[in-house]
Amino acid sequence: MTTRRTFLNQSALAACALALPVTAEPTITGSQSLKAQAHKRGLLAGCAVGAANLREPDFTQVLIDQYSLVVPENALKFGPLRPSPTEYNFADADALVNFAHDHKMKVRGHNFVWHEQLPAWFAATVTKENAKQILTTHIQTVASRYKGKIQSWDVVNEAINPSDGLPDSLRHSPWLQLIGPEYLELAYRTARQADPHAKLTYNEYGIENENEADRTKRAATLDLLKRLKAANVPIDALGIQSHISAGSGQTWGNGLRDLIAGAQSLGLEVYLTELDVNDDAVLGDDTAARDQQVAAVYRDYLAVALENRAVKSVLTWGITDRHSWLNEVKSHREKMPNRPQRPLPFDPDYKPAPAFFALRDALAHAPHR
Ligand code: XIL
Repeated sequence: MTTRRTFLNQSALAACALALPVTAEPTITGSQSLKAQAHKRGLLAGCAVGAANLREPDFTQVLIDQYSLVVPENALKFGPLRPSPTEYNFADADALVNFAHDHKMKVRGHNFVWHEQLPAWFAATVTKENAKQILTTHIQTVASRYKGKIQSWDVVNEAINPSDGLPDSLRHSPWLQLIGPEYLELAYRTARQADPHAKLTYNEYGIENENEADRTKRAATLDLLKRLKAANVPIDALGIQSHISAGSGQTWGNGLRDLIAGAQSLGLEVYLTELDVNDDAVLGDDTAARDQQVAAVYRDYLAVALENRAVKSVLTWGITDRHSWLNEVKSHREKMPNRPQRPLPFDPDYKPAPAFFALRDALAHAPHR
């Protein structure tokens, strides 16, 4: 018999059931977002953003929901900023910095000195006579414009390349050829003067994996940092780019631990600045299986990389597989033009991929900073 009480209870239950979605999606916003989980551990969760990405509402929604730190993907590089020797084009960088400010996100600056993405006019215009002047004016101009708004600046990017065979394993970069090894010190001193509160960072790739090439490059990178510190050059952090791969047999362990501990013992903070997982080497085209392998790499890498409290932030190079630089890289286009990479936390439709959950778990379980 249905009493009035059981009828009311049943109706209440039915109403509750109706209110629930048929298949409950896992919650990933608010307290369950990357930035909230990172924040609980004293970490920042960041990503690289292109100025064009800001015109895509799906992109900006995920950005606002998930991240506490952004880095312009290209807008602050020398080439994009400098259409001619006398002009600066700040439009894209301003848009990104303003967006971050409006949404209470911190900003990384990337970068002042690099051997790539130099403008077409560079080779014909920059000489041994004027190179120091051009370098310091560039840094002063850009750093001053964003003074107080940048949490950390990649002052120098990728200065080490042991295979070039030069002293101290320095890369045979245009800046080295024009100025000599003192370009490094000059860049850091100029940046410190222009924006005293930004954490001045040295950013490098190919120093993550347990293999011979990475071992050599790690040693050279630590030697460079030691020399800079010994000469009282103002430097505050090491950026480990973290472009890593799945299916390639790479592993992460004591080499990475020792690199982070080495930077820490020099008084530096450490940032994982450009994390993504190249999956070209994963066999088989099954998307779900590829995603699982990519996620496993996020898990394994971050388990080691986040052990040390010197590591203060994790940034992925993009947020969605819809827009990843890895799909533009020549070797990928030649080898796998019809198999777009799936390197990032969100899939091409902005759904959280297994990598999202691996990243969030790693942040959530990192030791407290
Ligand atoms: C990449 C950008 O993502 C691309 O859009 C651009 O065409 C080339 O540069 N290491 C770095 C980044 O330090 O600046 C690079 O960004 C990726 C590798």
